Amino acid sequence: MDKIRITGSASPKPLKGKIKISGAKNATLPLMAASLLTDQPIKFTNCPRLADVFTLEALLNHHGVESTFVKNTMTLTASTIKDHCAPYDLVRKMRASVLVLGPILAREGHAKVSLPGGCAIGTRPVDLHLMGLEKMGAIIEIDQGYIKAKAPQNGLQGAEIAFPTVSVGATENILMAATLAKGTTKLINAASEPEITDLANCLVKMGAKIEGIGTSTLIIEGVKKLSGAIHPIVADRIETGSYAIAAAMTGGELELVGTSLDLLPTFKETLEATGTMFTPTENGFIVKAPEGSIKSVDMKTAPFPGYPTDLQAQFMALMTLAEGSSNITETIFENRFMHVPELARMGADITLSGRTATVRGVNHLKGAEVMATDLRASVSLIMAGLCAEGETNVGRIYHLDRGYEDIENKLKACGGNIRRYRDGDTVKNDGSAKEYTG
Ligand code: EPZ
Repeated sequence: MDKIRITGSASPKPLKGKIKISGAKNATLPLMAASLLTDQPIKFTNCPRLADVFTLEALLNHHGVESTFVKNTMTLTASTIKDHCAPYDLVRKMRASVLVLGPILAREGHAKVSLPGGCAIGTRPVDLHLMGLEKMGAIIEIDQGYIKAKAPQNGLQGAEIAFPTVSVGATENILMAATLAKGTTKLINAASEPEITDLANCLVKMGAKIEGIGTSTLIIEGVKKLSGAIHPIVADRIETGSYAIAAAMTGGELELVGTSLDLLPTFKETLEATGTMFTPTENGFIVKAPEGSIKSVDMKTAPFPGYPTDLQAQFMALMTLAEGSSNITETIFENRFMHVPELARMGADITLSGRTATVRGVNHLKGAEVMATDLRASVSLIMAGLCAEGETNVGRIYHLDRGYEDIENKLKACGGNIRRYRDGDTVKNDGSAKEYTG
């Protein structure tokens, strides 16, 4: 079982240098699912080489999609869909696999997809995905852990769909299905994350008719067929924010390239309140740590353009070293504080009350054996390790490999003392902690 060892000190070595940000995992996955909507090839550039991407590629191959993935260019061609069932053993590994449901149903009229199940950060239901498809005329049956969906004889019909909760995945599934439905579909209270904008922009390149891109109301005019496209994947704003916080924590200065502060409006304001400084550049920005102490700031996660839930754990790591105390409220997922006990093992002072964590800053952290519980928690432990006195060994780093391309080398190149090693111990999943499935 691989582990990552970080050697830090109480007065951390400032991270200094330049980091190229990769394409966004959370844009890549829906974009890959969109390949099912056409029999023409789609080429993605700036495609990150991540475990989740390979997992979805395997599922698409199972459906009959031909794929090539050389360096950071992926080409997918769904000439025909050979298998309409997304099996449990593939879907359980990565819950975003449920995004194949809308495209296969829209193109083929029927689909069978395993329920993705919950994971470490929450129950992660898909009721909003199914509600939207039913409004479009689909007959949905849940049988033995599978979603069995059938479109009307003459295909999915356009509909008006108001989401009671903002859902990224449900918006993506219904948006893709609506591109091939008969008539007009209106999505109200849709998610408007940059990854959805990127998906919509690619669908338009494929011939889809979509209005309201970037807003919470999307209007899609169905078309008979979609063509292929060439699409550069948008930068990963969560990777961007993670490295920006690493710079702030270590007293460093990083130039992040291939990204943009426009992807992180509220995050930028929140970090500026801690004293962190940002300077936009032609192809990204420079982030500089606060001069003097890190100011403690309260934060509440929210759907875009609010503060991203996927940067909550990383912000908490920053606040463990701030002056004063900060209240961090997680409004999106019901169980996204599993990094708290691990940070506490490193000397952080955090108390939980419902969905709010109160973090009292300490002078410094101490290295410890810790365990990654989910993708974003794992990176927050690595950043804490960079600022902790002594060695921090992070276990279960397969979580990390799902969402951060080449993180060791990116941090090493900026002065981080970090290396991956194979550990003799086998960390058995005794079933107590549910596996995180993204
Ligand atoms: C996407 O997950 C991201 N994953 C998550 O990133 C991200 O945290 C999340 O959006 C919120 O921004 C991908 O894009 C692959 P949701 P998703 O549907 O689509 C509830 C990471 O670390 N809900 O917006 O699953 C749900 O329980 C991952 O990269 C329903 O109730 O998130 C949650 O409380 C973690 N019914 C809230 O909505 C539904 O049918 C937001 O979930 C769907 C969702």
